[in-house]
Amino acid sequence: MKIIHISAECYPIAKVGGLADVVGALPKYQNEIDANSSVIMPFYNNKFTQSHKFASVYEAHLKLGSEELPYNILKIEDASVLEFDIFFVHVDNLLYTEQVYTDNDIDRFLVFQIAALDWILGLEEKPNIIHCHDHHTGLIPFMAQESYKYESLNKIPVITTIHNAQYQGWMAYDNLYKIPRFNIENVGLLLWDDVINPLAAAIKCAWRVTTVSPSYMEELKYSANGLESLLSHENSKAFGILNGIDTDVWNPEVDKYIIKNYKKTTVETGKKENKKWLCSQFNLDESKPLFAFIGRLVGEKGAELLPYAMDHALQSKDISVIVLGSGSKDTERQLFDLIPRHSGNYNAFIGYDEKLSHIIYAGADFLLMPSRVEPCGLNQMYALRYGTVPVVRRIGGLKDTVIDIEDQGFGICHNDVSLQDIVLAINRGKDFYNEKKEFKANRKRIMSIDHSWKVSAKAYLNLYKSIN
Ligand code: ADP
Ligand code: GLC
Repeated sequence: MKIIHISAECYPIAKVGGLADVVGALPKYQNEIDANSSVIMPFYNNKFTQSHKFASVYEAHLKLGSEELPYNILKIEDASVLEFDIFFVHVDNLLYTEQVYTDNDIDRFLVFQIAALDWILGLEEKPNIIHCHDHHTGLIPFMAQESYKYESLNKIPVITTIHNAQYQGWMAYDNLYKIPRFNIENVGLLLWDDVINPLAAAIKCAWRVTTVSPSYMEELKYSANGLESLLSHENSKAFGILNGIDTDVWNPEVDKYIIKNYKKTTVETGKKENKKWLCSQFNLDESKPLFAFIGRLVGEKGAELLPYAMDHALQSKDISVIVLGSGSKDTERQLFDLIPRHSGNYNAFIGYDEKLSHIIYAGADFLLMPSRVEPCGLNQMYALRYGTVPVVRRIGGLKDTVIDIEDQGFGICHNDVSLQDIVLAINRGKDFYNEKKEFKANRKRIMSIDHSWKVSAKAYLNLYKSIN
């Protein structure tokens, strides 16, 4: 079965969040089972593209409304760099940007989607499945079904995976002329609340819609940033499939980023070394339980509460805290301003740092995720693999992957995104940490939980088969 994933992000080429991790792993695991799975993404101007060689495999012009733009499709010259084929849409200026997301994303992702479909149209061996990810590729299910020029593709099943329904790619109606011609009577398929809504269009037109955890699928029916009724209506073709993690990349035994490698039997000494390094680099007290937060500093992650929760929890000086993140400028500043107030027990690295994130998963005792919305969440699964106890709000994928210690589980869960709940959860963490024997046994136990992609990669293949 030939599958083409279409995505704005893919690890290790370009990553903003978990979307990249998923698209960088799922094809690999699908290929291990029984598939020929590849990815097409934009060609950005970043570290990865600057440090690899690419060959052009296709050149053409595309039309964005009345504008003609030259583009080409590139492949990495050294095919052994990744364990699946990956193709890039190269459009000078528009897509070849330093950032994945910019303030001109309407045209950028329209161009990307049109180029991707034009290229597929020209392929000798067509895919059996087109698998789109998030709103940046939300117009593809519509175009493949409705645009005259793609008529020969309309028998190919198109799947959309919603990684995050908060962002929908809204565009004003006057962008309509940029979408390859279709029967205007069907324009309603593109619209939601009178604007072009790519995510809504994808939900309407895709053959199947998936979300990245079963609980998130249920939650979307009553909280989907305006798309609740649409998701309820399309319920019969919608499924929740829990993400996995790439256990080759996220493996403390061989992880090249961390200070000392370790496995279940050496977790105590291994974590200690990583914690020691972190504490010396960030001026933290290594004798205290270390709580960490890694992530985008946005409302969905409950990030604006972090400065207050940390300020409160740190009063008793019996924990250490490290924050790694970027996002809202206000939250960044507040987190930064807290450093001198709790010097010796708290620090924050404002920015994005892949290596540091690995060391934190390895060195921390607890990982905080007070998310308001969490479609799946990968951080908690990385934490488990590194023997770090997740402290999470019961929502979305966090609900599906973390069981509280009081329910014979292994993590700490709270119900609300409130200062009180976060601080209480931290206090429960401290108590747990002090039950040394149980805490150590739990570390080993959580490292054995299998969240690899094996099960979910199969679930996707079964879904593809059901519509092929
Ligand atoms: P989301 O995609 O909503 O941001 P996920 O939990 O699915 O959340 O994935 C987040 C991914 O991004 C994880 O791989 C996490 O380690 C990584 N990440 C988030 N913020 C940072 C950061 N500031 N530095 C390094 N890695 C980060
Ligand atoms: C999104 C979600 C996150 C999920 C990730 C990968 O960014 O916010 O919860 O884990 O996509 O599917």
